[in-house]
This record gives sequence, structure tokens and C-alpha cells, in this order.
Amino acid sequence: MQIVILVGTMTGTAQLCAQEMELALDDGETRVTTLMMDGLDSSVFSREGMFLICTSTYGQGDVPDNARALYEDLKAKRPDLSHVRYGVFGLGDRTYAETFNFGGKRFDEILTELGARRVGERHMHDASSGVLPEETALEWCQEWLAKLREQVAAG
Ligand SMILES: Cc1cc2nc3c(=O)[nH]c(=O)nc-3n(C[C@H](O)[C@H](O)[C@H](O)COP(=O)(O)O)c2cc1C
Repeated sequence: MQIVILVGTMTGTAQLCAQEMELALDDGETRVTTLMMDGLDSSVFSREGMFLICTSTYGQGDVPDNARALYEDLKAKRPDLSHVRYGVFGLGDRTYAETFNFGGKRFDEILTELGARRVGERHMHDASSGVLPEETALEWCQEWLAKLREQVAAG
């Protein structure tokens, strides 16, 4: 299985999480490619594989700057993504109560709208919880992979 991790980040925390997930998931049988979202557009979803969106939240519930072009391109071009399966590991901070984890939520919503199928629940990391996101990412991605394998096996 091929997994593509797409990273939206401002200060590198999501990238750290993606690195941990790549290390955990890439075992020879499952191959992982991690791409920063900078410079990507919606054509990235024509790659083969399953997608893992790993993104934080900025501004007032916005996607990070490096994720903006990809997010806007999805909304503008609206490609048919019914062949896509994806998961979302979102980062945010509950101090921003009104917009908590909206970066991941925005990607989740547009991907679903375009016909893609989410595997597992959208994770919402809370920076104010004191729990290290990279540790949670490690556990979360293993559960996600197990669900992904079940769904792929089920067809
Ligand atoms: C200026 C600023 C705005 C933020 N806005 C939000 C927000 O609206 N909602 C939220 O859940 N988190 C918000 N956050 C928290 C970040 O998403 C969180 O700290 C995250 O772990 C940062 O990850 P990164 O280093 O990958 O960008 C904000 C953080 C900063 C510094």
C-alpha cells in the first residue's frame, strides 16, 4: 500500500507529527511519501495511494499559509475525488474555542464534498492539553492504518 502524507504547517509541529507517522507506517509493505503542501494543487490527488492530511489551524480558523493554494484549488476546480480515501490528523488549540481544529475540518469537508471517503475519525489535537502531538500521532496513525486495511480488504 502507498500512503501520501500532505503537511500543512506554520511552525513545524504538523511536520514533526508527519515524520513520526512516516517512520511508524513505512515498513516496506506500506510505503509512505510525505509532501509539504507548499506549491501543491488539487492534481496531487491523482497520485496513487491513500492520503493522510496532517494540518494545523491558523488565523481565525484558517488553513496554514502553505496549505492555502491547495485548499483554494480544490474549492475552485472541484475535481471528482471519488477514487480517494483519506484520513485527517488535525492540530489546533482549544483556547481558540470558536475555531478549534478548523484547518483539518476544512480539508475534511471539501474532500467529502468532492466525493472522497474518509477512513476513521478526524483527529483533533489540542495544543493546550499538554499531550505531545507527535506521540498521539504515532498511536493514531497505527489505528488509522488498521482501519484502512480493513476497508481496502472489504473493497
Ligand atoms: C496566530 C495563531 C492562530 C491560531 N489559530 C488557531 C485557531 O483558529 N484554531 C485552532 O484550533 N488553533 C489555532 N492555533 C493553534 C495552532 O494550530 C497549534 O498551535 C498547532 O499545534 C500549530 O501547529 P504547526 O506548528 O504545525 O503550525 C493558532 C496558533 C497561532 C500561533
